[in-house]
Amino acid sequence: MMALIGLADLSSRAGGEGAAVKTRELAKLMGVSQQSASRYLIELEGLGLISRLRAPRGEIVRITEEGSRRLAALYSILRGFFERPEAELVLEGKVFSGLGEGAYYVSQEGYRRQFIEKLGFDPYPGTLNLRLDSGSRLRRPLLDRIEPILIEGFTNGSRRFGPVKCFRAIVADGIEGAVLIAVRGHYEDDVIEVIAPMGLREALGLRDGQTLRVRIPLAPSPSRSSA
Ligand code: CDP
Repeated sequence: MMALIGLADLSSRAGGEGAAVKTRELAKLMGVSQQSASRYLIELEGLGLISRLRAPRGEIVRITEEGSRRLAALYSILRGFFERPEAELVLEGKVFSGLGEGAYYVSQEGYRRQFIEKLGFDPYPGTLNLRLDSGSRLRRPLLDRIEPILIEGFTNGSRRFGPVKCFRAIVADGIEGAVLIAVRGHYEDDVIEVIAPMGLREALGLRDGQTLRVRIPLAPSPSRSSA
């Protein structure tokens, strides 16, 4: 775990992408011998927590989705230990255009009915795509710790529409919308989709490449909710 934390440190200093890591640096950071550091790397790779790519100058180490999940779990424990419990998960990402499929899906009556009933708003037909920034990508696994609002799948004629998980979210610090995660989505884990009662591009003057922030409230933990 210490080696994984050391790598997260090196990786965030390198801008969050894969970090060029020299075992010497990692060893120094952790206060262990070079042999130990390289043993840790082998072990982390074997556990699927990092991937390693040999490069001319050292090697490029990336923390995998599973590694990031482990760090997120640790992060949330440490936050709880050192600070007042977090009230929300903040995710930031850059707007990008997709294939225009969001409008088709969101307008399906089978989904729309449930959005209105379970989220309390009639969504603008479409989903705004955000590619998460590096810090948000590391925090994203914290979503797994929030109880989702489940939108059930349905069949319309011959076509099946899969279930979707939703999380209530405050968009751009003021608009009540939701983050959607298709249970079997076609996007990578660095993408989230946002729905809202209005067209966000128009309401906020958003263009591709601009950064948008969403805040997802975390349910109060049972032990504190009575306080
Ligand atoms: O595939 P893509 O996400 O580009 O399109 P879409 O999901 O079909 O959405 C149609 C358009 O509306 C896209 O430009 C979205 O970014 C935008 N949109 C918006 O402005 N506000 C929303 N609440 C949802 C989508």
